[in-house]
Amino acid sequence: MSITTHAPRREARPPRVPAGLPLVGHGLQLLRRRLDFLQEARRYGPVVRVGLGPSTAYLVNDHTLLHQMLVNDAALFPRGIHFRKARAVAGDGIITAEGPAHRRQRRLVLPAFSRKRVHGYGDVMRRIAMERISSWPEDRPIELKPEFVSLATTIGTRALFSTDLGASAVSVIERALPVLTRGVSLRAMDPTGLVEHLPLPANRRFGATMRELHAVIDGIIASYRRTEQQGDDLLSLLMLATDEGDGKGMTDRQLRDEVISILLSSAETTALTMSWACHELGRHPEVFRSLRAEVDRVLPDGEPPRHEQLPELELTRRVVKETLRLYPPTYFLSRTATKDVRLGQHLIPGGSTVLYSFYSQHRDPRLFRDPHTFDPDRWLPERAADVTPEAYMPFGEGAHRCVGEGFAWAEAMTSLAIIALHRDLRPVDGDQVRPTGTVTLMPRGLSMVLPRRAA
Ligand code: HEM
Repeated sequence: MSITTHAPRREARPPRVPAGLPLVGHGLQLLRRRLDFLQEARRYGPVVRVGLGPSTAYLVNDHTLLHQMLVNDAALFPRGIHFRKARAVAGDGIITAEGPAHRRQRRLVLPAFSRKRVHGYGDVMRRIAMERISSWPEDRPIELKPEFVSLATTIGTRALFSTDLGASAVSVIERALPVLTRGVSLRAMDPTGLVEHLPLPANRRFGATMRELHAVIDGIIASYRRTEQQGDDLLSLLMLATDEGDGKGMTDRQLRDEVISILLSSAETTALTMSWACHELGRHPEVFRSLRAEVDRVLPDGEPPRHEQLPELELTRRVVKETLRLYPPTYFLSRTATKDVRLGQHLIPGGSTVLYSFYSQHRDPRLFRDPHTFDPDRWLPERAADVTPEAYMPFGEGAHRCVGEGFAWAEAMTSLAIIALHRDLRPVDGDQVRPTGTVTLMPRGLSMVLPRRAA
């Protein structure tokens, strides 16, 4: 079934979530207690109105309507402000392009993430994850999220650029990504669009970081062009890709935009998944014991899993799956309605912002039994009644569904398997850790001690 467009009808207006304030609407609640607010809003209906300052946004709380919006009628709902602001960083890459330009870029990028290709990046993942995790201190708390961001950035960079130039690019990219992510978030929050043009230190730093990053990536692309590098790395595959329609490949500028798009989309999301998984395994020693029994059985030599061994790590997969249910990194996204659109029983006026949250959806008791409980066994086939698989969408849906899903699974499973093989997990104030909704779903207060595995 598809959404039908029609002229506005008063009675089709969705209900407004109560307790909005004049001028700010629900802005303060979204700022201070966003995750609770998103869940409470479910009570008022499948589509509700939310005050964002003086304007109104529409929050969708129903997975079938979400499916319609993201799949069947994706053309009527391009991405929201956050992605438009990401243009300053990712240019016309896949994460910012829309319509035919997006479809073309997606066609060019997708083959580099095929099952076979992800298999090829497996060695980089194993080697880097093993090196990094072995280097972590054993006797004192470490803040997991930055460690995993560093690990994921290194893996992403080395999968993109397998030559020595890639090795030297890692530190520049590692420094650049947080500056750029923060810059995009600040720009998205500025309704005037003026702040980014002011001579502020943050803007100067943003500009300098962009120039440095561009210089490094452009240098690598130029060197690949010169040597006609045709390796198995991601950049080589992107360079070889040609569009079926016009037979053309990507220009150097497009390649740079795609490299940045991939780096921006991959490191933080995967790092958060691994951080949250360790947090839950630390709180559930019985699950960690079973996970360890699994990796000991499948990997008796203590070596990291090869890509073809990942399917045997069945519980490891369920742990990652359950982690992504409870803590979807990209938990709160938006689209913009291009014209008046009927969504279920309701009318969304053209130009409106439409919000949706996988965090809230994945914790809806109508869709998942005991939704707040970490229970990897809920994904066992014999417990199919405990879940609504169509409502599980941590990698999004439709036209913009994550292209790096296979890559993320492999990286998260490889890293968790290495940790279970070689380290114990000791929580530090585990009960104090809270998910905090910023741009992504952050594990505020998460530190753990990872001693070498006891004999
Ligand atoms: C657990 C880790 C990850 C999660 C939860 C995740 C989640 C998502 C989601 C929800 C979207 C859709 C956004 C939207 O609809 O607006 C997306 C898009 C995307 N992701 Fe991921 N992602 C992850 C890892 C990765 C990795 C490792 C890569 C690349 C190596 C990647 C590359 C991309 C790209 C390029 C897009 C844009 C696709 C498009 O617009 O056509 N992601 N991701």
